[in-house]
Order: sequence, then C-alpha cells, then structure tokens
Amino acid sequence: MSTSAAETQPLQTIRLSDVCKSYGDYPVLKNIDAEVARGEVVVICGPSGSGKSTLIRTINRLEEINSGSITLDGQNIHAAMRTRELNALRSRIGFVFQNFNLFPHLSVVENVSISPVRVKGVAANVAHEKALKLLDRVGLADKAQAYPGQLSGGQQQRVAIARALAMEPPVMLFDEPTSALDPEMVGEVLAVMKSLASEGMTMICVTHEMGFARDVADRIWFIDAGQILETAPPEEFFKTPRHPRAQRFLADLRH
Ligand SMILES: Nc1ncnc2c1ncn2[C@@H]1O[C@H](COP(=O)(O)OP(=O)(O)O)[C@@H](O)[C@H]1O
Ligand SMILES: [Mg+2]
Repeated sequence: MSTSAAETQPLQTIRLSDVCKSYGDYPVLKNIDAEVARGEVVVICGPSGSGKSTLIRTINRLEEINSGSITLDGQNIHAAMRTRELNALRSRIGFVFQNFNLFPHLSVVENVSISPVRVKGVAANVAHEKALKLLDRVGLADKAQAYPGQLSGGQQQRVAIARALAMEPPVMLFDEPTSALDPEMVGEVLAVMKSLASEGMTMICVTHEMGFARDVADRIWFIDAGQILETAPPEEFFKTPRHPRAQRFLADLRH
C-alpha cells in the first residue's frame, strides 16, 4: 500500500447506480446513486436506522441488492460469481466493523497474517514479517504475541485495521469503528484512520465522529430513510446544509 503502488494503479472508483434493497416489503435503500473516486474519503452520516450499515455492506456484498448495480473499477460486484471469485473480490475491499471480530484463539500477529496465507497463498514467513510491520504502523509492535483478550478495545480495533490492511485492499470500509469503544480509546483509532487517509487510501466510513468527518472527509453523504439526501464537502455540509433533514440532524447532534 505504498504511494508508488497507488500511483501505478488505474484510476479506480466505486460506483453505485440506482441501487435498491428491501427487507421483505420494507425498502431500506432507495435508488442510491453515488460515486467514490480513487483516494477519496467519504463519511456517511445520518440517523440511526437510516440504512448506513446496509449501504456499506452492499459494497463488499455482505448484503445482496434487489436492483441497480455497484461496480469497483468497472467490475460488477453483484454479478453472478463463484464463491472463489467472491472471496477474491472481498479480499480487495477491507472491512472494519464496530466489534473487531478478531480470532480469540490466535495471537495478534497470527490474526493479521492468517488471511494472506489462507486466501492469497502468501508464504507464512513473508506474511508474518508483513504483519509485524503493519502492527508497528498501528502502534502495536509490542503486542504481536498477545491474544485479543489481553488488549483494550482500542488496541483490538487497531489490530482489526492491520488485519484488513494485510490483504492490501485498494479500498477500506469502516462501519462505526469507534462506537463500541470507551471514549478515551476513540482518538487512537481515529488517528490510524486519519493516517491511512493521508496516505491516499480510498475510504468509506460510517461514523458519528463529526470532528473526524470535518478534518478528514473529502465528501459527506447524508442518508436518511434509505436515500442519500445530500452530498457535500464537509465545510459546506456542516456550515450550510441544504436539506432540511440534514439541518435537523446537525441541530440534534449539537444538542
Ligand atoms: N437483516 C435485517 N432484516 C430486516 N430489517 C433489517 C435488517 N437489517 C437492518 N434492518 C432494518 O433496516 C433499516 C436500516 O438498518 P441499518 O442499515 O442497520 O441502519 P443504520 O446503520 O443507519 O443504523 C433499519 O430499519 C433496520 O431495522
Ligand atoms: Mg449501522
């Protein structure tokens, strides 16, 4: 994930076109049209239950869609494909959840190196070395041999980020990565995300951390009741939100 590697990649984008999804009769995503450019950082915000998690999960196909299309570099993510292709696709889209989901019986360094070995066939010693570098990068070089249960929530989440990065994904998705953390641990996770963003990683983040959104996002997507009602650069969104529901959302946040 060095800068030079990023520069030699073709211009890569995620494009959602007229994406609709329902749970039974309940429409949870309604005609979503949106695009993410390479290197762009998008923050998705909106009220609870508005469809943020569903939206982000359709991008690596943890959720199916009913109609429309989603492409990554022109590749149709929701096309019919074999399990193997789907796994290859998923390995190109790093995902960090609210609840870390580390393997409790594996050491930290094993958590980070297991997928490259199992999914990509990387040699164990190579994956191990790389995992140590990634742990250093998220500030956890000294925890390589620890087990997840011995770490704080903030440390576990940083391991989860290192684990996702180990697959060298061109895109990272975050779904409320700091929501399950004690307040004093939020900053350390946001700092890692911020450094990723500054290195040019393409990122889509669902988060309620509006300070992060303001500092790091290139664009905000405001979603309510399954629709993207507004997209704008943060300085515009926070200062002069156009949609009445975005205005109300921000007013509620401030109270
Ligand atoms: N598996 C599911 N089955 C049925 N309804 C669901 C399911 N997952 C989410 N929903 C509903 O879809 C809506 C959007 O959920 P979600 O995407 O989790 O919202 P958000 O992440 O913005 O809080 C909510 O009304 C939620 O109750
Ligand atoms: Mg959610």
